[in-house]
Amino acid sequence: MKTRPESLLLLIKLVTLHSLLVLSASQDFDFFYFVQQWPGSYCDTKHGCCYPSTGKPASDFGIHGLWPNRNDGSYPSNCDSGHPFDASKISDLLSQMKSNWPTLSCPSNDGLTFWGHEWDKHGTCSESVLNQHGYFSTALNLKTKINILQALENAGIKPNGSQYSLSSIKEAVKGASGYTPWIECNNDSSGNSQLYQIYLCVGSSGSGFIECPVFPTGRCGNSVEFPVF
Ligand SMILES: *[C@@H]1O[C@H](CO)[C@@H](O)[C@H](O)[C@H]1NC(C)=O
Ligand SMILES: *[C@@H]1O[C@H](CO)[C@@H](O)[C@H](O)[C@H]1NC(C)=O
Repeated sequence: MKTRPESLLLLIKLVTLHSLLVLSASQDFDFFYFVQQWPGSYCDTKHGCCYPSTGKPASDFGIHGLWPNRNDGSYPSNCDSGHPFDASKISDLLSQMKSNWPTLSCPSNDGLTFWGHEWDKHGTCSESVLNQHGYFSTALNLKTKINILQALENAGIKPNGSQYSLSSIKEAVKGASGYTPWIECNNDSSGNSQLYQIYLCVGSSGSGFIECPVFPTGRCGNSVEFPVF
């Protein structure tokens, strides 16, 4: 039988559409980065920070996000514009969000913009595993499993403006969590490397920490400042 070019083209289109649909419905990530940030290092930069409208956050690490990532180091983003952030779905979590996931962006605001960005950019890429409420409650729950500030302080690493070795910071977090963290630094306004974010990896179901399949890139100085907040 001779196939007419038009029907062949239609067939190709249908097969392509089908594989796209299958891909988008299945899980397109392998694990999560659970990222916590030190507010002192966010604020101690050229751009500075603004405290949320609810007041100065606690002197503690705050959640930045729970980011789906792939084992090859790449990550999906902005996966479902059809399910934008809806604050009414997490009304029962808002008081925990304010204390554990504070925004520091300017101008001062209540945090909904930050949380909405995290959901729209990252959370929509793990919807096959966690719906919006599950995404935020999972991150809040992960924070209760490891007290990073306590782990550092127990190792004599205090947010008092002193410099600490990168290896001592990693060891302290590994000792308390059982898993090797990734440390991200930023620069203060005079160019000193400082402890900015701590990454731990989480299995794709969101239920617990795992060893990281791959680490982000970038590096801290060997000695990093832990600024006061
Ligand atoms: C910060 O705390 C550490 C650990 O207790 C201590 O060794 C260091 O001298 C302190 N630095 C400042 C500037 O107080
Ligand atoms: C910090 O400054 C150094 C050079 O002083 C630069 O190489 C590095 O990229 C900066 N890091 C960040 C996170 O901006």
